[in-house]
Amino acid sequence: MGRWAVVFMQAKIIALPKFEDPRGNLSFVEEEHHIPFKIKRTYWIYDVPGGQVRGGHAFREQREFIVALSGSFDVIVDSGTHKQSFSLNRSYYGLYIPCGLWRQMENFSTNALAVVLSSTRFQESDYIREYNEFLAYREKYANQHL
Ligand code: TYD
Repeated sequence: MGRWAVVFMQAKIIALPKFEDPRGNLSFVEEEHHIPFKIKRTYWIYDVPGGQVRGGHAFREQREFIVALSGSFDVIVDSGTHKQSFSLNRSYYGLYIPCGLWRQMENFSTNALAVVLSSTRFQESDYIREYNEFLAYREKYANQHL
């Protein structure tokens, strides 16, 4: 009889290649190289009115990489016990968020453009939209015994 606990991973900033050039800079991202997943979907958030908040949920499966292609915003990542705030304001780095973390995007600048590379196609059932349900989910999987 074994005992096990799911190890939830932490969010982290990943720096992307940057080719500085007097003609204009160039950056890029390759799946399963710079980011640890295959890209199944890309979406973007834009025209965010001042003071608005996006996100505010967790994913059971989806892993994602968020880049501020233009402007700036903050991503608050919450494990249920610890909160971390990441300021994204450069197009040559982004935030990798593993599954099982509550995350919220806020403090968008004018003309901010957030691009999200996702490891899954859109599936509403992958969302955990209630914070209490998220806490229960973390609790359940962090203390699972066989
Ligand atoms: P949602 O992820 O809930 O955005 P936020 O958490 O920032 O408010 O998405 C908003 C709506 O868009 C929701 O009704 C689902 C839909 N949607 C898709 O249909 N496909 C997608 O890839 C995404 C990200 C959202």
